[in-house]
Order: sequence, then structure tokens, then C-alpha cells
Amino acid sequence: MKKAKKIVVGNWKMNPETLEEAKKIASDIKKGLRNIKKTKIILCPPSIYLTSLSGYVSTNLLLGSQNVFSENVGSFTGEVSPLQFSNLKTSFVLVGHSERRALGESDEIVARKVRMIIAEGMTAILCVGEKDRDHHGDYLGIIREQIISGLKDISKKSLERVVIAYEPVWAIGGRKAMEPREIHEMYIYIKKVLREIYGLPSDSIIILYGGAVDINNAQDIVKNGFVQGLLIGRESLNAKNFVEIVKQIETL
Ligand code: PGA
Repeated sequence: MKKAKKIVVGNWKMNPETLEEAKKIASDIKKGLRNIKKTKIILCPPSIYLTSLSGYVSTNLLLGSQNVFSENVGSFTGEVSPLQFSNLKTSFVLVGHSERRALGESDEIVARKVRMIIAEGMTAILCVGEKDRDHHGDYLGIIREQIISGLKDISKKSLERVVIAYEPVWAIGGRKAMEPREIHEMYIYIKKVLREIYGLPSDSIIILYGGAVDINNAQDIVKNGFVQGLLIGRESLNAKNFVEIVKQIETL
């Protein structure tokens, strides 16, 4: 099986405040990453900026949405359908981010969104992660359940259109990322769950880490956590640091 490219995803959340700032960040990232060949960069701005940022898309710099609705047709005030995103230059969609699960997104809705995203030819970045850790290891069961339910009815073939982002909720927005050694353990565990569902170990499924990634820990996390990339929140709005992180990952 061919070696997967590394992926670095920037989750801008509800930032920046203006389209001008969004364009500036995207443009600085694009300029800074001109020589990047092996790493795929996915920027996930607020969806209202997606159309305006489509001009920055290139082979390695792609756009993603932070969310999507689970239906393509119907009267759903305020929602944006998977079909509408795929008609823009949106190739990835984050789904099941803990901040959305906290707003009430159930495993069932997450699963439906994953199916719809794949059906529209986009790639789902399925976010999983425990709220906190317990000494009995119950958190492992939570991750397992999130993966199994999130990938319900997804065929082995469709896994090409799925990326798993492991994000321990307690690390998101915090100061300290998880230790690379522990990230590696979770990486092995997630692979084990995938093997359980799909039979064979699937090297084609990419696993990312997210939660308090910054310019000082990014390289260590990818190198010693053995993940294929990162999902970055705050630091992805700092174009200079984001570019530097991607350059570091490119050398691995
Ligand atoms: P953070 O956010 O990098 O700011 O911790 C990560 C995320 O929410 O995906």
C-alpha cells in the first residue's frame, strides 16, 4: 500500500472577524508553502469565507468546512448541505468535533453526516476524543464507540474518504498537548479498532492528532506519536507559525 501523505488541517473555528483578515492569512499561508510537495494542507475557515478563499486552492492547499448539514434537500433554515459544499471547492469536512458534539451532535447525526460527505465525493475528517481520562481505561471504550458509530455503514472502499482526527477534549484549547508517547498508544488503539471493524489493518486510513498543537510541539508529536498529521486550532490562525509547522512536518 502506498505511503499516505502527511496532512495538516487548520481549524479556524469562528475566526477571523473579517474576510480581509481571512484572505490575508490564506494568502500568507499559500506564499509560505510554495515549495511544499509531500504535505497536504487543509484550511477550514468559517463557511461564509469558503467561496472567497477558493482562489487560494492548489494541489496541496485545499479547503474544508468545519461542519455540514446531514441532508441535501428540504426546508432547513440556516443549514448548508453536503451538495452545496461539494459544489464549492470544498474537499474536506470536519465532523464530530467535540465543540459540535457539545452542542448536541449525536453519534447518529455524526454517522449520517459522514455518509453524506462521502456520497458527495468529499473526505470526512471524523473527530473523536474523550472528555477526560479515568484510571480504569473507560475512555478507550468511548473512543471505540465513537469510531464504530461514526463509521456505521461505511464500506472498506469508502475509507479512502475518511480521516480520523484523535483530539482529547481536555487538551483542546489548553496549553499542553498530549505526550507523543501517549499519542502513539492512542494511534495503535485506533488502528486496532479499525482492524476490528474492517478485518485487515488499513494503512490507507490517516490518523491525525489535535489539541494544543503549536510550533514547539508539532514536530515531536508527528515524529514520536507516529500520526500522519495534525489538526490545529489556534496556531493555524498565525500564518507564520502554521507555515513553519508544515515545513517541519514536510521534513519527516
Ligand atoms: P487547539 O484546537 O489547537 O486550539 O487546541 C484544536 C481543535 O479544536 O481542533
